[in-house]
Amino acid sequence: MRVAIVGASGAVGQELLRILAERNFPLDDLVLFGSERSAGRKYSFKGKEYEVKLLQHNDDFKGVDMVFASAGAGTSKEYLETITKYGAVMIDNSSAFRMDDDVPLVVPEINPEDSLKRPRGVIANPNCTTIMMVVVLNPIDKISHIKKVHVSSYQSASGAGAAAMQELEQQYKEMVENGEVSTISKFPHQLAYNVIPQIDKMTETDYTKEEMKMYNETRKIMHSDIRTSATCVRVSSLRSHSESVWFETEQPVSVEQIREALQAAPGVTLVDDPQNYVYPMPLESAGKDDVYVGRVRKDLADDNSNTLWLTGDQIRKGAALNAIQIGEYLIKVGNVK
Ligand SMILES: NC(=O)c1ccc[n+]([C@@H]2O[C@H](COP(=O)([O-])OP(=O)(O)OC[C@H]3O[C@@H](n4cnc5c(N)ncnc54)[C@H](OP(=O)(O)O)[C@@H]3O)[C@@H](O)[C@H]2O)c1
Repeated sequence: MRVAIVGASGAVGQELLRILAERNFPLDDLVLFGSERSAGRKYSFKGKEYEVKLLQHNDDFKGVDMVFASAGAGTSKEYLETITKYGAVMIDNSSAFRMDDDVPLVVPEINPEDSLKRPRGVIANPNCTTIMMVVVLNPIDKISHIKKVHVSSYQSASGAGAAAMQELEQQYKEMVENGEVSTISKFPHQLAYNVIPQIDKMTETDYTKEEMKMYNETRKIMHSDIRTSATCVRVSSLRSHSESVWFETEQPVSVEQIREALQAAPGVTLVDDPQNYVYPMPLESAGKDDVYVGRVRKDLADDNSNTLWLTGDQIRKGAALNAIQIGEYLIKVGNVK
């Protein structure tokens, strides 16, 4: 099994390296790719050094079985053919192909079988905020169909990549040292000591691209007519996204039923004792695999609705871990090529 990572130097690329090692992913060889910026840099994996190769349109993917791509949508589109030409399966973290009819969009806890039908050799990893929400909603949908969702996200700086994390840290430093910020490039406004109610570009619907991803991708992953209305917000945490989720089911579902379903759900941990100030928070979910859920309660405004709070490390379950779980599934069912 020869595995490649495209975008090895990035926030997701670095997490891919960590998780492949942690989970002892069954690979015999590893190839790392990047742009001119990181080509030649070395990263260690299980005690061995690997040098980043420059991604080019050549035969470097000959003999590679599985490729984890996390170098942005433009790069994925430009290199899809080069990467898949010799039969490698490409598991793509970008938004490039997610809504294409002939590309499966997969969360292994929900629709792993979709990954088996991939006419273009590519499987899309969903948007991070969407992955974490569907892992939690899917077990509840099995009790009674979820028709509608209202969600507000609280997304950390790292969702915009490694340089964005550095920018937030730099902004806090500048505020402490000079009382004002001089570095604003990865976000549309100063993020330190602030909250920005826009993630990604605005669309003609007056929802952002990130918000429309939550609407469209949730339907595709869950094979459902579910309607999601989202407000995606950037907050000044460094790592781990959180979401406040209201959902309406066809039949009334009790809080006890929800708790029971979540306790049994793979990839979910219930942390819910608010009387004792116990609920999930991004500082605690950072670096962990599960999506953590708390504040489960009845919606005061609608008998068929409930509400909950969730938080999870979006670089792990929202990106690298989900992609690796797809790879593990393909290996388990013998469907890599
Ligand atoms: N961060 C998250 O929480 C998150 C969650 C879900 C999905 N994603 C998606 O995952 C992808 C990577 O995100 P990230 O946060 O890891 O971004 P990042 O930290 O900015 O890293 C970007 C990576 O892409 C590489 N790259 C850029 N242009 C390239 C090119 N032309 N050829 C080869 N490599 C190139 C960079 O390599 P160099 O350093 O060599 O330029 C770097 O390794 C994006 O599509 C993003 O939307 C991110």
